[in-house]
Amino acid sequence: MKDVVIALDFQGKEQAFAFLGRLGSARPFVKVGMELFYAEGPGIIRELKERGHKIFLDLKLHDIPNTVRGAVRSVASLGVDIVNVHASGGIAMMTAAREAVENAAEGRPRIIAVTQLTSTGQETMNLQLLIPGSVEKAVLHYARNAEKAGLDGVVCSPLEAALIKREIGPHFLCVTPGIRFAENQKPDDQVRITTPALAARDESDLIVVGRPITAAPDPLEAYLRCRKEFMGGIDE
Ligand code: C5P
Repeated sequence: MKDVVIALDFQGKEQAFAFLGRLGSARPFVKVGMELFYAEGPGIIRELKERGHKIFLDLKLHDIPNTVRGAVRSVASLGVDIVNVHASGGIAMMTAAREAVENAAEGRPRIIAVTQLTSTGQETMNLQLLIPGSVEKAVLHYARNAEKAGLDGVVCSPLEAALIKREIGPHFLCVTPGIRFAENQKPDDQVRITTPALAARDESDLIVVGRPITAAPDPLEAYLRCRKEFMGGIDE
């Protein structure tokens, strides 16, 4: 699984479909986050599926295990490809998430865990969240917890993927936001960022790209460039 996932961070489906219309016949893997999902509800997932998109439903679930189990069961029934939970919810919560899809028929969604948001830097983590040590150490610890809970992988910074792969194994998915083109290292609110080419070198499986594509003057060109830099000659 190697692909570029476009973050559909739009207020509503009109804006999302207007944007997708600018991509011509391309049917990218898309990420639906809280903004779009809370505005449109499950209908947006059905419409995107009908149009042939693979979907990462990024709701970053974080609650008591029983509630997360139920929530994952509900979102899994929509037929999405990936869902996520916060690793900081703990191993029992992540295990409940996995149990929710255990008996699902073939095609169950992959479940991945958010380690540390790519907008979180060292100082915020140490001084506000009171998590000591380096970001890298905390991310690796959370990734190990996710693996213990039987999850399929993590959301992490592209700068951490290689370490996680080395420590946990090549099968463990590393899905990485925080991507910027080389000439535009304007991070917006992201802190731990890199380019599509370096993310490929550093073993990301899926890169999640929002504003560098959605805010580009020519989004199709930006999307194709991202695929080329990240996937080289790979077409699908
Ligand atoms: O616009 P940009 O490329 O920064 O968008 C990144 C996307 O990835 C956003 O939708 C954001 O919510 C998401 N994300 C992130 N960091 C995480 C998990 C998800 O930036 N750790």
